[in-house]
Amino acid sequence: MALHRMLDVEIGVADPATLDAFYQEIGFVGGDGLWGAADQPGQIRIVEAPYRQLRKVRLGCEDEADLDATAKRLEGLGVKYQKGGGRLQLVDPHNEWEFIIEPAPAYVQPEQPKRTQNSPGVRGRVGKRAEVITEPTPRPPRRLGHIVVGSPKPLETTQLMTEGLGYRVSDSLGGGLATFLRCSPDHHNLLVTPGQVPYLNHYAVEHDDFDAVMRAATVYLTEHGDERQVAGPGRHQIGGNIFWYMLDPSGTFFEYFADMDQIIDDEAWEIGTDWNPAESWSVWGQKQQPEVFFAPQDMQVIVDGWNKAHS
Ligand SMILES: [Fe+2]
Repeated sequence: MALHRMLDVEIGVADPATLDAFYQEIGFVGGDGLWGAADQPGQIRIVEAPYRQLRKVRLGCEDEADLDATAKRLEGLGVKYQKGGGRLQLVDPHNEWEFIIEPAPAYVQPEQPKRTQNSPGVRGRVGKRAEVITEPTPRPPRRLGHIVVGSPKPLETTQLMTEGLGYRVSDSLGGGLATFLRCSPDHHNLLVTPGQVPYLNHYAVEHDDFDAVMRAATVYLTEHGDERQVAGPGRHQIGGNIFWYMLDPSGTFFEYFADMDQIIDDEAWEIGTDWNPAESWSVWGQKQQPEVFFAPQDMQVIVDGWNKAHS
């Protein structure tokens, strides 16, 4: 396996300072535009940009031989890259996102205390109140897990990600117009979807379990009001994760998720392409994604920003 983890991302926003207080509030550690979970700090860098955008993604591979193999694949696709100093760098010609690949140690995520559950025939918690009630504060987020992007060229972008960079396909929708890609055992670390211009749809932060997602999201929405609600809670059929989507102060959707499908044996995984739209968004709760999900309120600002930069 070549790629084995997403190291970090860089996001551009008009007013980076607004996000420092937000990340601190949701339980990230860091400061001055560089934030992450205590378990994996520095996974999100925020910089100033004329409009909201994804700027960089840094991926970890196993060794230098992976860089050579990636270089060869990119040459085959006719995509320019730079290689040197132990890393490979390219600007995606379709969307202008910068990708950096470099050898990185495997990430072993620390195990968190499991909450004991009661279920029929298995009474694991007897004579004790549930931990979610007795824990004094909500559990913090654990790491950045995936990003979802929109692109005017989703098929070409997916081809570059898979045949060039080495992302693996987990599932797809709409004949490949939306493709769930992984560079780690997570079902998806990157989802490419159609977009009027390239844009960042959301970034997703992993929580310990169902209760952790529900509790953290409830705290956030209680503090900021329903105008920060986007979608959820629910459980996606594709990827299997529990989700709750909200709005960060810069206008980007962020997702709290837990319990995502994990894929280690690439050969054994069967890629799903035939999904029932009535079931794929969520197996319970609201059955359809809200319209705003692929039409964020600031979309016209992003379109204008992209067009201005390319006029
Ligand atoms: Fe997501």
